[in-house]
Amino acid sequence: MTTAPTARGLENVVITSSKLSAINGTAGELSYVGYNIHDLAERASFEEVCYLLWHGELPNAEQLNAFTAQLVAERALSAEEAALVRSVPSSGHGMDALRTLVSGVAQLDPALESMGAQSQAEAERVGTRLLAKMPTLIAAWDRLRHDKEPVAPDPKLGHAANFLYMLHGERPGDTAARAFNTYLVLLAEHGLNASTFAGRVAIGAGADVYCGIVAAIATLKGVLHGGANQKAMETFLAIGTPDNAAPFIDALLGRHERLMGVGHRIYKVEDPRARHLRAAVEALGREGDPRPQAIADAVAQVVAEHPRFTERKLAPNVEFYSAPLLYMAGVPLDLFTCAFALSRMAGWTAHIREQIADNRLIRPKADYVGPAPRAFVPLAER
Ligand code: ACO
Repeated sequence: MTTAPTARGLENVVITSSKLSAINGTAGELSYVGYNIHDLAERASFEEVCYLLWHGELPNAEQLNAFTAQLVAERALSAEEAALVRSVPSSGHGMDALRTLVSGVAQLDPALESMGAQSQAEAERVGTRLLAKMPTLIAAWDRLRHDKEPVAPDPKLGHAANFLYMLHGERPGDTAARAFNTYLVLLAEHGLNASTFAGRVAIGAGADVYCGIVAAIATLKGVLHGGANQKAMETFLAIGTPDNAAPFIDALLGRHERLMGVGHRIYKVEDPRARHLRAAVEALGREGDPRPQAIADAVAQVVAEHPRFTERKLAPNVEFYSAPLLYMAGVPLDLFTCAFALSRMAGWTAHIREQIADNRLIRPKADYVGPAPRAFVPLAER
């Protein structure tokens, strides 16, 4: 039996180096490749951020045009991919559909070698393909389950606006498109979070890029990670009115349940992304229904004052205001975590590139605490 100390949940364990995001959980700071998240949230498009994460520099106009053209060219589905969407069950959760669709797209990729290749070029090729196609796949699946025909991508629209267009069948207004772009920028990358780690584990074992992304999608569904955005919105809807926030949360804590969208393994202060998400929600509320924000604000107030949260340094995380943002942008509840995946594709691919560049099998140990060695008992004697 080993006497090595255990690190439950790998908390504070550093397993690799990365040039992608710097996170300071006590100061509440985040930057991507040296650029402050506040500047990126206010001034960059998702396409620019994706280029930054994949290439280490913000693109100039020519580079951005070329990258955007590549994405636009990959958005449409082939006949086989379109048939795949129709063959996936319309029941079940959006993340189950997305996981299956991405696996199917891998099987339909004519350029994928049977065992999959691991190279920077392959990571960029598959990353571009999936970044571009995932919005088309999930929007088409959603429309088909509601007996509507899929909407073809619009090459004139940016990544954020095009997804909302394919989902709803009408072009989004500026506020909704801007809000969703802000969302995509803010969720694009966040160090060795659970889904990114899962993707790196698959790549570390020598699996191909699609496998890394499927592992990441599967992990993102978890309610302690990406699945929290849907759960947070369901909580806000169940609370119903701002006045009900405090009694609802008291009852929830009395049942020993967690308040979704609150708490973080790294941030012990407010998540630096929350203020931009809240501002986007406020802008959406000015044009539409202000109630989701009023409820979220009332919950945030309870979190800021209730000893259960203050004593444990638990604050609203990135999912907290993401929830009303996605709701007000018209994203169906069970596609909230898919929206997260559309954004995190940027970070997953960037991490896969880093893992490929300096690969070593990721293989921690478990401390064996089972029975001492014992004699085998034949079946007839058990
Ligand atoms: N509501 C109530 N209590 C909480 C919450 C919460 N949301 N989060 C943590 N706590 C409490 C725990 O019960 C525990 O209390 P105890 O010490 O009395 O037992 C203490 O705070 C520490 O909790 P841990 O689970 O040890 O903290 P950890 O760092 O493992 O958890 C996590 C982080 C999973 C995010 C947690 O805060 C949580 O479950 N939050 C709700 C789910 C959520 O919003 N997830 C999204 C995170 S952001 C992202 O992944 C994109």
